[in-house]
Amino acid sequence: MTETSKADPPARGGMGPTERSDVGGGSDARATDARPWWQDAIGYEVYLRSFADGDGDGVGDFLGLTERLGHLADLGIDLVWVTPFYPSPQADFGYDVADYRDVDPVYGTLADFDRFLAKAKALGLRVLVDIVPNHSSSLHPWFRSAVMEGHESPYRDYYVWSDPAPDGGRPNNWLSMFGGPAWTLDERSGQYYMHLFLPEQPDLNWANDAVRDEFLDILRFWLDRGVDGFRIDVAHSLMEDQTFPDDPPSPDLPDGQQPETFGDLDHVYDLDREETVDIFRDWRVVADARDAVLIGEVYLDEPERVAKYVEGDALHESFYFGLNALDWDPAEFARRIRHANDTAPGGWSWVQGSHDEHRAVTRYGGGTVGRERSLALWSAMFGLPGTPFLYQGDELGLEDGIVAPEDIQDPVGFVSPEDGRDPCRTPIPWAPGPGNGFTTADEPWLRCEQRPAGDTVQVQRASDGSFLNAMRSLIAARRSTADRRFGGVEWWDEAPEGTLAFTRGSIAHVVNLTDEPVALACGDGWELVHATGTVELDGAVISLAPRTGTILAT
Ligand code: NOJ
Repeated sequence: MTETSKADPPARGGMGPTERSDVGGGSDARATDARPWWQDAIGYEVYLRSFADGDGDGVGDFLGLTERLGHLADLGIDLVWVTPFYPSPQADFGYDVADYRDVDPVYGTLADFDRFLAKAKALGLRVLVDIVPNHSSSLHPWFRSAVMEGHESPYRDYYVWSDPAPDGGRPNNWLSMFGGPAWTLDERSGQYYMHLFLPEQPDLNWANDAVRDEFLDILRFWLDRGVDGFRIDVAHSLMEDQTFPDDPPSPDLPDGQQPETFGDLDHVYDLDREETVDIFRDWRVVADARDAVLIGEVYLDEPERVAKYVEGDALHESFYFGLNALDWDPAEFARRIRHANDTAPGGWSWVQGSHDEHRAVTRYGGGTVGRERSLALWSAMFGLPGTPFLYQGDELGLEDGIVAPEDIQDPVGFVSPEDGRDPCRTPIPWAPGPGNGFTTADEPWLRCEQRPAGDTVQVQRASDGSFLNAMRSLIAARRSTADRRFGGVEWWDEAPEGTLAFTRGSIAHVVNLTDEPVALACGDGWELVHATGTVELDGAVISLAPRTGTILAT
């Protein structure tokens, strides 16, 4: 192997694990039982519509998910997040909730949910449900009453209303994330209601204590059924400035250009309000009483802004989205991960994608190279404080599914096909052949090209060299080293650009994200526990093939 760079060994001399100075995580977190259960968990996002169809109608459901839970247990998953399954007109595929305390018939019944939960528990899997507090569906009885009964409705103030501007137009310049204005006129009352997303997703009014009480009750409803926590949709967006000032234009918007899309505004008044963090302090009391976890979708670019949600007594973690909008860039990926970790240590749920992004392997270049990059990156993410979350299909190294323009389903895809989220939402390929084992219906809810046999769970399970088996082995290595991995991250400062190398307790993760071989001085005494590619550990030097991650123990 060619040696392209060499680094000084990390300063380990004489420092025992308990004495080591670390970045966050707390040196008192030496024993694994001193840290909360989710910090040792591997999470997995189930996008329910596309996971497994148990009743043959083309849509994934609880019956199908329950039947397929063995796949997750077998893979080594500990924690399953299920996307919204509540009664919903499905304008945004469930992120438009019409009843927060029930199951949509397309996904099953509450009894089906309970059976799913019981089986998950029996297999040692914990479960998160997805709470959507920023907005309800426009068909929620609260909003129906607010519109039909106007100011007489007890639910009118559950939503965000404003009189028109003096010229009769919209109250201000706020825009919807899904395109168009963030205000729609209610002709009955002559007032506008606010919606950060579709007009079918009116924003709830979190300045109203009754809304806060409703949601505390909703949390208790699901905790009483036995769930282990919540994924919180757009957690940073609940509050807005009640005087509704215009947002200034984004600093990136060229002078004189009118803001037209969400990104054209600097969201000073409609996002990330300090008061939002207080809401989660109330949620935290409820969650902590049940040892449940709160993981927010705090979609803000700067880790410094996310930190206030996950430090102290608000949320436990936020997903880390800092890599999603970037093309593959080893140096920048490594820099951002390190910065995020050091800004809010232990506060991140590490992800490579979700039901909202193009699939990671596609973004990382596709094919074998894309898969190797993804696996190497996971091997670093699996060592950091926090909770890694695979998105369904990540364990198969799936690339985006192929959806014809006439089959687009996602409301974002109608407005802007290149941003549409259908390609990452195509059904999981369980087996070769028609329907890919996902459904017995003629077509799945999202028509797409059939996946090749090599992408399927059935074929990958039977093949030693498959991505699925590589992922399973990585997860097993992480688990077998868990009680020796503790405390905060001690970075190997001399690690070359595009690598991530760090020690926690007596475990190190050394990962080469670049497309070149790399050699690092690592000091004596390491034993190789796991590698995703070719590695040589020769005395005090470790050499890694391109796109390779390792776990070392001392
Ligand atoms: C974030 C969710 O992940 C996305 O799928 C949804 O469309 C929006 N929030 C609105 O709820």
